[in-house]
Amino acid sequence: MADLMQKVWQDLAPPNRILMGPGPSNVDPRVLRVMTHQPVGHLDPEFLNVMDEVREGLRRLFRTGNGLTFPISGTGSAGMEASLANLIEDGDKVLVFVKGYFGDRIAQMAKRLGAEVVVVEQEWGKAFDPDDACEAIRQHKPKVVAIVHAETSTGVLQPVEEIARCVREVDAILVLDTVTSLGGVPVLVDDWCIDVSYSATQKCVGAPPGLAPVTFNSRAVKFLQMRKSPCKSWYFDALLVKTYWGEDRAYHHTAPINMVFALREALRLIEEEGLENRWERHRVNGQALAAGLEGMGMTLLVSEPEQRLPVLTTVLVPEGVDEAHVRLRLLNEFHLEIGAGLGPLKGKVWRFGLMGYSCQKRNVFLALSALGAILREEGFLCDVESGIAAAQEVYQNFSTVAVEV
Ligand SMILES: Cc1ncc(COP(=O)(O)O)c(C=O)c1O
Repeated sequence: MADLMQKVWQDLAPPNRILMGPGPSNVDPRVLRVMTHQPVGHLDPEFLNVMDEVREGLRRLFRTGNGLTFPISGTGSAGMEASLANLIEDGDKVLVFVKGYFGDRIAQMAKRLGAEVVVVEQEWGKAFDPDDACEAIRQHKPKVVAIVHAETSTGVLQPVEEIARCVREVDAILVLDTVTSLGGVPVLVDDWCIDVSYSATQKCVGAPPGLAPVTFNSRAVKFLQMRKSPCKSWYFDALLVKTYWGEDRAYHHTAPINMVFALREALRLIEEEGLENRWERHRVNGQALAAGLEGMGMTLLVSEPEQRLPVLTTVLVPEGVDEAHVRLRLLNEFHLEIGAGLGPLKGKVWRFGLMGYSCQKRNVFLALSALGAILREEGFLCDVESGIAAAQEVYQNFSTVAVEV
């Protein structure tokens, strides 16, 4: 006790890292700046205008006209829990497609919420074949189907359009996890017929962690209105939260004001860049990084190039190399954070994120050269020059795309 009282804390001075892991990512200084404003009241007329702008910006980002579109107060898992808690009642059959760590998290949450969960699995590192997925949907006829669009544990991008059509066939509701895809790769909620989607601010959206944008279409809203029992979560009950984020402006909970400021600025930056240009920036930088790693003689986990997620690249740790040691050296010597493997991939892979403000050409070259230099010192003779040349070639092929912000 006496020790505690004597301790004097220094000013907080977190290191200035280059965040190239699975998130959080670096954020534009403009986003940081707006966070330093004094908070205003959560029902201040000025704040209500900010809320309107955020809802509008999120609709454009999700490519949807859905009225019920707002940020949940919480991280991506809160968006996941909110989506599921609103849709699931005891004993409901929920079909979850699991091809990695986050699909599994959905299944666990759905079980806790009282659903009868049917899990359909795919090998980690591969996407579901839409025909197989549709067969499972037709066979099980679930009430709710959930799938991860961009599986951050593996770096796989799941095509969802065809799956969404099958979900409609059996009159179920489709929940799409877009935590890692929103703002980085195309997410077309209305065109693809996605009923519910949730995301997070700290990845390709370009703000710090703390909010989870969600959107519910009119089918989903009708579904919520037809529930026999109230949503098990009071905090996440979308129809209650709507009284605050919707037109009523009634107090529900105190919004994290400065995080909403941050999200507004991040959305403004997206508008300025143009969403399509942003997708292109992520696509080209991701392709250059993948080409560079392969050029260095490394193997990517996702063998099918068309299934690769440009915003997150997973590479196998070469035999005999100490995974954690290399990662720590990148952090200590280059201030570069990359991600480790999760679940069965622990110790076997590195995950390189290129999301939001972190997704820049200069970071691609830094990552390739820093990793190459360390690997050589650790005794793995990678061909750094060929890796750099391969990345350069990608940039030359897409010379009209803006790859820096
Ligand atoms: C695909 C996916 N879903 C859900 C989550 C959970 O989000 P959070 O860590 O923000 O709670 C993550 C986090 O990385 C994720 O990548």
